[in-house]
Amino acid sequence: MVIKTVGVVGAGTMGGGIAQLCAGRGFSAKLYDISKEILERAKERIEKSIDTGVTKGKITPEAAAKTKRSIAYVLRLEDLAAADIVIEAATENLGLKQEIFSRLDALVASERVIATNTSSLPVQEIGAKAKHPERILGVHFFNPPPVMKLVEMIRPPRLDEKHYQTAKKFALDLGKTVVEVKDVPGFIVNRVLRPYYIEAFRLLEAGKTTIKEMDEAVVKLGGVPMGPCALVDFIGMDVNLAVTSAIFDGLGRPERLKPAALQEQLVKLDYLGPKVGRGFYLYRNRRAAGENPEVLKILPPVKNRLPPEALWAHLKRAIRQEAEMLFNEGTATKEDINTAVRLGANFSKGPFEMSSDEENRNRDRHYFSAEK
Ligand code: CAA
Repeated sequence: MVIKTVGVVGAGTMGGGIAQLCAGRGFSAKLYDISKEILERAKERIEKSIDTGVTKGKITPEAAAKTKRSIAYVLRLEDLAAADIVIEAATENLGLKQEIFSRLDALVASERVIATNTSSLPVQEIGAKAKHPERILGVHFFNPPPVMKLVEMIRPPRLDEKHYQTAKKFALDLGKTVVEVKDVPGFIVNRVLRPYYIEAFRLLEAGKTTIKEMDEAVVKLGGVPMGPCALVDFIGMDVNLAVTSAIFDGLGRPERLKPAALQEQLVKLDYLGPKVGRGFYLYRNRRAAGENPEVLKILPPVKNRLPPEALWAHLKRAIRQEAEMLFNEGTATKEDINTAVRLGANFSKGPFEMSSDEENRNRDRHYFSAEK
């Protein structure tokens, strides 16, 4: 199956980014959403990002114009019927995704692949009502899709091998590194990083650090581009909470993965990150401009302040323990777990590479015993 046209459902950050990525790689993209306003906002965002590429000298003005022309913004799902592959990137809501899949399944010829970009919902359940479940799989991109190198390929049990190979070749043609993972809640990256986010919220709730101190510690010691608070804002406080809740429920509500009360409160207060101009941080032109003073008022005063090394030791331990669990469950290889965390979240080391030497492990143990 030769793929030329890609249908994308949902013109939010992920859907828009996927359409931009496909168009930039020579595919023709059709981006669908339910309102003209949403499509206009997506077009503006995509074209601004393409223009930044021209300003930086990464692409020529001609190539930019061609990329822009390669994206059609459509208001009817029927307009995706002739696409060679369809990627759904709607809101993380099982009922909504099931409805979209039932409609796509009826519209798109049965030999074509339909993929979901879900972060955490079971792919098998998303396609449960489809007549052709053998062409349904998960193709999970990371934010921003044009930049992040990883795609998680999720194989639900009824997937036909030929459709898997078609989708894998497509992801490779987009320039991505692929890892294969079973259809388990959160797949690799979102599952392994879940306790990392939760631990960050718990450290704030316990008054052991501030937003800025924790982010600075993790950037410096963990070699990541953003600390956990900046990353939660970037992903979207609400999106991140929805993923945590889905994984918590999907795994039978284990205490360690329980969403933090602080995060639920911040979502209720609409502190959702750059998209609304405020989250843990305040944003101007989507750039962080200091901690959000309203969030600082909610946080308890810092007592028993942890040093940067101890903060990173807490977060690193959370990642490592979850990665061990995922590996022991037989979900993915250690190599794929390392690759996924490195390329899916731009960590400098994968979970099994962090604290691999004895000296580091002893130092980490020292921090935990010193806190008791
Ligand atoms: N589209 C296209 N290109 C973009 C872009 C976008 N939306 N955003 C950034 N870029 C490009 C920039 O043009 C720049 O390119 P050059 O280096 O060639 O000039 C490059 O990316 C770096 O961008 P900036 O210089 O503007 O900023 P930065 O160095 O701070 O990098 C970042 C931005 C890539 C987002 C970086 O901060 C980062 O990697 N953050 C971590 C992102 C992450 O972890 N994502 C995964 C989240 S989890 C997820 O997505 C899963 C889920 O299911 C929810």
